[in-house]
Amino acid sequence: MNKQEKKTAVFLIHPRDHYDLAQGLWWTRFIPPFITDPIMTKLSGRLGYTLCERINVLGKIDVFLLAVNLKGYQLVVSDKAALKKVRQRILDAVLFSQDHLNAMVIGLGALTASATDGGKWLATQNGIHSSITHGDTYASLIAAKGIKEISRTSTVSRPTVGIVGAYGIIGSALCRELSADYELIMMGRNNTRLQRLLESVNGNGRITTQLTDMKNADIVVTATSHPTALLTPECLKQGAIVYDVAQPANSCMELLTARPDVERIDGSLVNIPGIKINFDMRNSRGSTFACLGETMIMGLERINGHHVGDVDIEHMRRLQPLGHKYGFTHAEFTSFGKPLNLRGAKDGG
Ligand SMILES: NC(=O)c1ccc[n+]([C@@H]2O[C@H](COP(=O)([O-])OP(=O)(O)OC[C@H]3O[C@@H](n4cnc5c(N)ncnc54)[C@H](OP(=O)(O)O)[C@@H]3O)[C@@H](O)[C@H]2O)c1
Repeated sequence: MNKQEKKTAVFLIHPRDHYDLAQGLWWTRFIPPFITDPIMTKLSGRLGYTLCERINVLGKIDVFLLAVNLKGYQLVVSDKAALKKVRQRILDAVLFSQDHLNAMVIGLGALTASATDGGKWLATQNGIHSSITHGDTYASLIAAKGIKEISRTSTVSRPTVGIVGAYGIIGSALCRELSADYELIMMGRNNTRLQRLLESVNGNGRITTQLTDMKNADIVVTATSHPTALLTPECLKQGAIVYDVAQPANSCMELLTARPDVERIDGSLVNIPGIKINFDMRNSRGSTFACLGETMIMGLERINGHHVGDVDIEHMRRLQPLGHKYGFTHAEFTSFGKPLNLRGAKDGG
């Protein structure tokens, strides 16, 4: 293929914490967060984002990793004025991606989706002609595969699955995918939205606003926009398996130290054979986030159109065989990037 014809896509990321910040801006490792963080909120224009890597995807497209220079907790804000500034920072990065990096597809990694109402806000802004995707469609598909694989290895014949962040984009897609085959406990903070979710799955399952109700679940899936760990030792059943989709993670090492009976799995990760990513996103070698996988598939297949807001089932059906086409499968199970003894899913993607 002529080099000039090579299409590009961009995947927006952001530092989840101070460790991540130093991956993009190495010198920040010598500066404490109480100095870096207030400065980060004040950055604007070209200083608001950092180009981290250009990934050669199978010689067919290039995918740029572009970091919005805001940490997870700085992206999830409820104050209107602060949210306006956060969204402007993401919009600046999106416009740079389409106008200077010629991105045909722009994927919204981690909390850049939640901060823009699942990408819906971005899709309605003037001058956007690149395709925007939150990547949650493929992330939900891969997560459902992972959960089914865990349940096959489980000693419990029909495990109860708890979903934290149940009416979020990924949470609700998972509730729909799993409600026929599993006992579900759907957790969220808003009762009205939980009721609506319960109706959408034909009343299959229970709803709760209490995290401690996860104590009744054999498998706990976390898919919230909470910017730090959320699960506590008290809210998990003996021998529970946590499948943590959230980025930043909703579970932490301290939880596993306090509860050695609990197994934790990095959620929604895909193997991407033949594609090398050097930038350290703390995943095991050869795997990455399924939402980045979706951005790659859309770029490789020249799929146009926004995929924002609720997961579109047609898009999911289309992505499944395309993932297979490129050899994308659910990654071997890891916890914080380290291999686990649980058998990895073999039929993902
Ligand atoms: N691993 C991957 O490949 C991958 C791919 C895509 C996304 N993700 C991650 O998956 C997570 C979910 O993404 P999404 O796009 O589905 O987000 P979303 O649509 O914004 O949904 C997030 C949900 O989390 C809920 N939530 C926030 N704080 C909570 C708390 N303290 N307790 C209970 N629920 C809480 C929110 O409910 P309220 O409305 O009540 O706040 C919302 O329903 C994010 O962390 C994202 O970074 C991972």
